[in-house]
This record gives sequence, structure tokens and C-alpha cells, in this order.
Amino acid sequence: MSILLKNIKELLQVRPEAPNMIRGYDMRKLPTLTDAWLLCEGDEIVDFGSMDTCPESSEAQSIDCSGQIVLPSWCDSHTHLVYAGNREQEFVDRINGLSYQEIAAKGGGIVNSAETLQHTSEEALYEQSANRLQEVIQLGTGAIEIKSGYGLTTAAEVKMLRVAKRLEETFGITVRRTFLGAHAVPKDFKNYKNGYIDLLINEMLPQVAEEQLAHYVDVFCESGYFSVADTERILEAAARFELIPKIHVNQFNSIGGVGVGVAHNALSVDHLEVLEAEDIEALQGSQTIPVALPSCSFFLGIPYTPGRKLIDNGLPLALATDYNPGSSPSGNMNFVVASACIKMNLSPEEAINAATINGAYAMGLSETHGSITPGKRANLIITKPIPSYGFLPYAFGSNLIDRVILNGTLQ
Ligand code: NIG
Ligand code: FE
Repeated sequence: MSILLKNIKELLQVRPEAPNMIRGYDMRKLPTLTDAWLLCEGDEIVDFGSMDTCPESSEAQSIDCSGQIVLPSWCDSHTHLVYAGNREQEFVDRINGLSYQEIAAKGGGIVNSAETLQHTSEEALYEQSANRLQEVIQLGTGAIEIKSGYGLTTAAEVKMLRVAKRLEETFGITVRRTFLGAHAVPKDFKNYKNGYIDLLINEMLPQVAEEQLAHYVDVFCESGYFSVADTERILEAAARFELIPKIHVNQFNSIGGVGVGVAHNALSVDHLEVLEAEDIEALQGSQTIPVALPSCSFFLGIPYTPGRKLIDNGLPLALATDYNPGSSPSGNMNFVVASACIKMNLSPEEAINAATINGAYAMGLSETHGSITPGKRANLIITKPIPSYGFLPYAFGSNLIDRVILNGTLQ
């Protein structure tokens, strides 16, 4: 099956030879081609060019994209999309004055979601998660990372990762799976955190590895959750199973998580709403990409990650949704791109680079995703007719997507 997109008003993120990620000042540049065509064959991008070189193809399904912009699908490198139930009561509690931390201290938060998930069958968990995945695919997401971490028992953590695996098999979208057993200390281990870490290292990790359920390991490195020393212990154990770190750091406090992530060759360090000079220093010269999650800041009313500062210091930046029931019940990458421009002062070019090619890097998918490059996956967003790509973040509340193509197939 071939698809030929014709008369594309502007084709974005055109990179005949794509770098694996983009840093600093280079993020301001978004290569584009106006009045373009793009040919996909099977699940791959084959070629593109300007309309005066458009090939004749009788075999390909031809789509007229007059007035429309085409770009690579969003790469959402940080989600907790597999979860059970919701936490709208906690949302209302926050409106009435309780803080996120106060709710967690009362037994709400992550352990609340874990209790619900433990009592949800694998089938029901799959159904709920499949609905969310279907929604985000229509919103333009073409590759996604999904974490465990709402199980907090071996059986429930494994259940989450199996569901994430089945989602990839069913929907065909590339799913990178991350083991986040260290998301919170479960109630049974309330005063015995080390006992939980022992269980995580001696039972959960070996089983996750045995079933090849995860590509990455994550830890919520934060005051009241897992310390830097806990994080180190877990990352070292995970390294024995070849699990690369992608970790939650600096959401509420800067306690040294960035440094520990970089020291353990983390692929990404995520959140960074609180950022100190030493965190920026730790990231300089590393291969670890910072990931900002502006929907979480929006929903919790906490500071936005100083993305401008990270980029101005020559660092790369990726953007992701953090889709989860407690701090970001939205998997909408379009909103993420818009809020990065509106609240973090990124230019549209920077935000689009952060949500495509840099998002791919933050999932280890730079070779196959995140840019319009021959040989890469044919994962595309076709917008509605819009005046320019700056309109995408500008008209932040509108759905501006006309069609999406996933693995060379119109959805
Ligand atoms: O990334 N910070 C830790 N984990 C999630 C939120 C967890 C929850 O509240 O359920 C996050 O924001
Ligand atoms: Fe998260």
C-alpha cells in the first residue's frame, strides 16, 4: 500500500539525514519545504520533494493536501497511560485547598491508584488503556512511552507492563515500556521502605527482565518518595538487567536526582520544574536529555520547567504529556506544544523539535521516528487548512488535525 500526499502547503521537520537530537540554538531551526509532495510505501517514508518534481504514481493512493500542513507524528516520551479508574475526587480536594502532597500523605495519590489497579482485571485494565491510546493516536501521537508504577506489587506491575505490550501488538504504534516499581512506597511497606526496595530488586526486576517486559527503568526521585541513595541502588540493580534509566527528578525539590541520572547514563531526566544551577551543570556534555511536562504544571498549578533556560544553556529539550490520573489526566501533545510556547516561552520551531525528533531520542527511537526522513516510519499528521505552523500552538484549544497516518496507514 502506497500513499502520495500532494500539494502540501508546508512539510515540516524535513531532514534527509536526521541528527539523533537537537540542542540549544539549533532548536530554533525547523527545516521545511513548501508546496511539497511526500510518498509513503508500506510503513515507510520513501521520498519527498517540491511539487514541480512530483512523481506520477498510479499505484499510490493520492491525497490532496492543499492548504494543509504535514508533519511527523508526535513522539510522547513520558506517559503513565496504563492505569485503572480516575482520581477526580482528589482534583476536587485540591480545588478545595489540599495540596498534592497533603493528599498523598492521607493515602491518596499514587497508592490510591495502585489499590484500584490491583483490584482491576488485566482485561479491564487493557480496555480502559486502549480507549486512551485510541484517543491519543487520533490526537497525532505516533510513538509513546508507557510506564508501570501503579501496581506496586510484583503481580500488578507485571500486569501493567503486559497490558502495555498488548497495546503495541494490537494498535501497531511503537510503545517503549518502562518499569517504575519505585513510584511510591506501598501501604504495606509504609514504615519499611528498604523492604519494598529489596522486593523490587530481588523479585520484580528479575521477573520483568525474564518476561522482557521493559526497555527502561524509572524511579520517582523526590522527597517523601525515593532518595538519591535509593535511586542509585535501584539503577545499579536495573543495570544488571540492561535497563537504561529514564527518571522522575526535580518535580517538587532538587535533591540531586539529575546528577545521579547523568552518572548512570540516563537516557532522560524528566519533570525539572525545580531547577538549580548544578542541575544544568550536570547535564552539560552528557547524552541525557531533559524532558518537560507542561500539562502536569498546568494541572497541579506548579512552576513550569524552565525550558527556555535549558535551551539557552545549549541543552536539548523534549516535551511529553505525563498522561496519568493524578497530575496530568491528558495525553494531548497538541496542548503540550501550545503550553510550551505560551508558558515556557519556546518558539513554535523549538516546541515542534522538542515534541518530535527530541521526543524520539528520549525513547531511543531517533533512527526510526521524529522526522521526515526517507526510511523512517510513515507516521504523519495532516492538519486542517491553517495559515502557518505557528497557528498550531496559537489556536491552542482547537483540534487542528484533519487526518493521521500511522505506519503508512490512514487512521
Ligand atoms: O509524573 N510524579 C510522579 N508520578 C506522576 C504522578 C503520579 C500520580 O499522581 O498519580 C507524575 O507526575
Ligand atoms: Fe510521570
